[in-house]
Amino acid sequence: MAYRRDDIERVRDATDLVELVGEVTKVRRSGRSVMAVCPFHQEKTPSMSIDPARGLYHCFGCGRGGDLFQFVQESQALDFSDAVELLARRSGITLHRDPDAAKRRDRRQVLVDATDKAVEFYCDRLKSGSDAGSARSYLRSRGYESDVVERFKIGFSPENGDALIGHLKRAKVPEEVAVTAGLAIRARSGRVFDRFRGRVMFPIFDVRGDAVGFGARVLDGDGPKYLNSPETPIYHKSRLLYGLDWAKSDIVRQGAAVVVEGYTDVIALHLAGKPLAVATCGTALGEEHLDLLRRFTERVILMFDSDEAGAGASVRGFERSVPGDLDLRVAELPEGKDPADVVAGGDVAAITKAIDESIPLLQFRIERELSGFDLSEPEARGRAVRAAAEFVGQHPDSVTRHEYAVFVARRTGVDLDVVTEAMGGRRAVYRDPPREPVPERPRPLTGAEKAERELLRLLLANDPGVRDLDVTGLFTRPDHQAAFELIAPAIGALTPGEPPDLGSLLGDDDSEVAIMLRGIAFLDHDAPEAEEVVRKVQAEALDGRIDELERLVESAAAESKDYSSAYAELIALQRERRERQEP
Ligand code: UTP
Ligand code: MN
Repeated sequence: MAYRRDDIERVRDATDLVELVGEVTKVRRSGRSVMAVCPFHQEKTPSMSIDPARGLYHCFGCGRGGDLFQFVQESQALDFSDAVELLARRSGITLHRDPDAAKRRDRRQVLVDATDKAVEFYCDRLKSGSDAGSARSYLRSRGYESDVVERFKIGFSPENGDALIGHLKRAKVPEEVAVTAGLAIRARSGRVFDRFRGRVMFPIFDVRGDAVGFGARVLDGDGPKYLNSPETPIYHKSRLLYGLDWAKSDIVRQGAAVVVEGYTDVIALHLAGKPLAVATCGTALGEEHLDLLRRFTERVILMFDSDEAGAGASVRGFERSVPGDLDLRVAELPEGKDPADVVAGGDVAAITKAIDESIPLLQFRIERELSGFDLSEPEARGRAVRAAAEFVGQHPDSVTRHEYAVFVARRTGVDLDVVTEAMGGRRAVYRDPPREPVPERPRPLTGAEKAERELLRLLLANDPGVRDLDVTGLFTRPDHQAAFELIAPAIGALTPGEPPDLGSLLGDDDSEVAIMLRGIAFLDHDAPEAEEVVRKVQAEALDGRIDELERLVESAAAESKDYSSAYAELIALQRERRERQEP
């Protein structure tokens, strides 16, 4: 239910934020500034600042902030409309529905309906298409009986470029809807054609079970092995987990979710009688995926093959911290095998065994760290203990840290007191010898820099999609801007899709920009959609500015002009970021 803007503003005016916060936590006023003990993270001294005049709050401890609606949403776990209703009741304000909001909701429904029609169409073509023979035999070769095909609504996209779009047109779905839903692509000529051609189609449903996109596996044509839907108003890969809709009730019942690498692994766990699996859709597991899982369980088991790459992938992004409220675990499969391989090999029991024997992520990391040392040598034991100490130090709980100290002592044979000391930060009696200077490694690229380079790569490929977009002014690094200025005129003269000749573009230029461009041209992975890349560049710039403002707000005196203008901009940008993330 969505309400009229002016009603919402009346509710805002009628509510005193300080009073509201005071109902759930301790609030301290001193002069004009109001501080509160933040209810969103553990603390004793107040670090949440409230700006009563603007009706905004911001916690310097955990970074949460927003307006009164946000506060009620977060503190009572309500959605926006519920928060508005609750506050309206408090102030005796009558709410009226907003007709535009209904329109927005309808718009989402239109995209879901179109995607749903595509799901049906592809299913139908798999079953009865004369061109789907190889898709059917591929699925048979994977051991998917018809019940599996039905359950996961697997389909086939015909090879010719207008099968789906023709079908959608006959079903009165406008071309524009098909394009926005990521089902079709509009060429520069204006012609619209199917995005997915000659592929086995795995439909992706969001947590409510709405069809929002596809993962599409190549059969024997060329192109990337899996092609995913682009980001659309209903498909946000950072917040989607394949299989969650099917798995959620079992996840709740069994108290655990299993994260696997891909579509075929989700299906494999289903075949193995463990329908608890979810997978990301062409992206690494991130915080937002965990937020989604947190709604159903606290125990999240990462199941990957145990070769280095798999083990590395499973913990990517969580090197520094393990979310303290989740029981993140690792289930190891036999070397070099993903769940789909294991199940296809007939060893269903290995899946259950791996789940039953899963170990905490932190323990997994410590063991891997220790296994790199020859523990028969005193020096190596010393280094091993120090290396393990770094990991153990990440755990927020002192009792758990102690338990890990015992674990490390036992595994290395080093005395517990010594291990504890290495971990506890109590100064050692003997000073460490000066460390060998470590050769400086290049700083890893930030997300913003990576996104900008991705954009440069599309430009270098003279990607037709990127030619349609205005990307001037998006680059934040001078060398990226210089590279852009070098490429732009060169591709301007070419037909879209035809890459410029790198040799004549760069010659034997050995400037840093040229070296960077050669490196970028060398990268070889699936190119995301141009629009998605541009969105990413913009989102990263927004994140960068928000970080900057947060630092500023933290360091500025609360009464200064800097503070209030930075604070206001910060809140506005945080809101913009949230809105961007809304479907
Ligand atoms: P696999 O490479 O094992 O795919 O990736 P597969 O379809 O099982 O292929 P074969 O038959 O073993 O060669 C496993 C999962 O990783 C994801 C997919 O979800 C797939 O189910 N994946 C893989 C991608 O998203 N993109 C890729 O390019 C490759
Ligand atoms: Mn596989």
